[in-house]
Amino acid sequence: MSNIDEWVHNANECISIVQKNEKGDVDCEFHPTFTYSIFGDSEVLYGYKNLNIEIQYISPSMKPQLKVTCSDRLAPESGVEPTNVDKTLSKYLRDDRVPESLEPVDVRNIPVAETYSFDERKFCILKSKPSDLAAIMQYLQIFSLFFIEGGSFIDIFDPKWTIYLLYEIKEEQYCLRGYCTVYHYYKWDKTRTDGERPRISQFVIFPPFQREGHGSRLYNTIVNIFLEDPKILEFAVEDSSEAFDDLRDRCDFQRLKSMNIFTSPEFRLPLSKEWLHSQRSATKLPPRQFLRCCEIALTMKMK
Ligand code: ACO
Repeated sequence: MSNIDEWVHNANECISIVQKNEKGDVDCEFHPTFTYSIFGDSEVLYGYKNLNIEIQYISPSMKPQLKVTCSDRLAPESGVEPTNVDKTLSKYLRDDRVPESLEPVDVRNIPVAETYSFDERKFCILKSKPSDLAAIMQYLQIFSLFFIEGGSFIDIFDPKWTIYLLYEIKEEQYCLRGYCTVYHYYKWDKTRTDGERPRISQFVIFPPFQREGHGSRLYNTIVNIFLEDPKILEFAVEDSSEAFDDLRDRCDFQRLKSMNIFTSPEFRLPLSKEWLHSQRSATKLPPRQFLRCCEIALTMKMK
């Protein structure tokens, strides 16, 4: 065998995710952050030279096509079994609990939760039940594995899920930029029997579009929907990441500030239990996150 390094590859570097529009033009290209749940902890692929793996998605249906190329493959006499890239990856490219015959949905018919412009580009946030979008959702599940540490497939047909999809509209074409799934848990409350405590579960903005404010837009849109819905009593976040914690702190702090919570005369140490309770319930934040925002405000006040 020649230089061993030529036959060993980092899966995250080898895999390219290419999104094309309906006309077939390349819209964007990026790499996964994690592949350990697909190829094992070392995220290593063996047995090929110049391995290139391209997963092409046609937006908006997001039906993937897998293209694996290499310049050479280890012979069976070498005693090393090359990673079966095609077979292993194909298992995750679609959720096989969704019938394959399902007709694609037209994204233009999905209810719009928000629209906005950024740098003269147009974006929209659509809201749906994953079950109504199963034709698209079956292909999106892999993105949670690619971008969220500890991410997993959700049960698309569980009616307690909601999905928010962020699209950029470019020359009438819908190009996916990210999404967020939310699970609506029941919450007991003495004033109503239909109380809910939704939990933000999977939140992804595709890498080329990060740090442009889209994560904040998506989060704020979802939170505003929670605030307007009287059934929703509190909302939480599942297993957050450091980057998402930052986004959440920044957005929650700004929202509380605009609600004039930190200008109240009672906002001084020691914070009274009654004040904390009355102010927090209006924000629908869990106690810890509300206290965190108060801490940030107090720290800034002391500076
Ligand atoms: N120019 C430059 N920087 C900007 C701009 C801009 N126009 N707009 C916002 N920013 C900055 C923000 O100030 C922020 O800075 P900070 O890191 O110092 O706080 C940073 O960019 C990120 O803010 P946004 O752009 O609003 O967020 P983004 O779209 O990058 O999304 C997210 C953040 C969701 C964490 C994204 O990075 C991502 O998808 N990461 C990978 C997956 C992940 O970790 N998801 C969360 C897992 S936890 C869960 O799912 C519950």
